Amino acid sequence: MKKIRIAIQKSGRLNEDSLQILKDCGISIDNGKDQLKASSRNFPLEVFYLRNGDIPQYLRDGVVDIAIIGENVLIEKGEDIYIAEKLGFSKCKVSLAVPKSVKYKSVKDFEGKRIATSYPNTVKNYLDSKGVKADLHIINGSVEIAPNIGLADAICDIVSSGSTLFKNNLKEVEVMLTSEAVLAVSPQISQERTVLLEDLRFRIQSVLRARQ
Ligand code: PRP
Ligand code: MG
Repeated sequence: MKKIRIAIQKSGRLNEDSLQILKDCGISIDNGKDQLKASSRNFPLEVFYLRNGDIPQYLRDGVVDIAIIGENVLIEKGEDIYIAEKLGFSKCKVSLAVPKSVKYKSVKDFEGKRIATSYPNTVKNYLDSKGVKADLHIINGSVEIAPNIGLADAICDIVSSGSTLFKNNLKEVEVMLTSEAVLAVSPQISQERTVLLEDLRFRIQSVLRARQ
């Protein structure tokens, strides 16, 4: 029998919660922590541990059939990808923030400013919709340090507890979107694996109901 191939985050905040929901669905994964691939003993499923940002392309290419991923990543680079379920965990915001000392009035204040971010499409769409033009600097991590080292006037990144902003003397001034983990599906998924997906969805729905 064919196995359904699921991508989950390799390391980071989604990783643990993603494995937990599979576990709660009664799916045990043989976890070789350093392995990039694992299988389930009791469900025809293979897990691929991947970098968040790579997952939309893997789904598109049909290298994996499904993924547990932050909605924010799909909004940034996978708007074409179908969301089968919202999973209710890993809730966060994607926000614009500026140094605490800045007197902020409105989104127009970003006109001509340098913004460091890992979410260029999200920022650009947001600012375009407000008629604001800014200068985006794409960096892949530790974005919040950018204003302190003179690389940018502002940042756009994920805000969860808010502690990273706080520690870097920044304040959230615009919430562009809210996000949570979702189950995303490859447009290339086969008929045979869609049957497995439906089984998994059924289990996930029961788990989510029980969590409420
Ligand atoms: C993420 C994100 C924010 C922070 C938000 O970074 O990029 O910086 O978490 O969480 P908080 O509001 O609870 O502080 P992460 O620590 O995953 O590292 P990275 O940016 O280097 O990928
Ligand atoms: Mg960060």
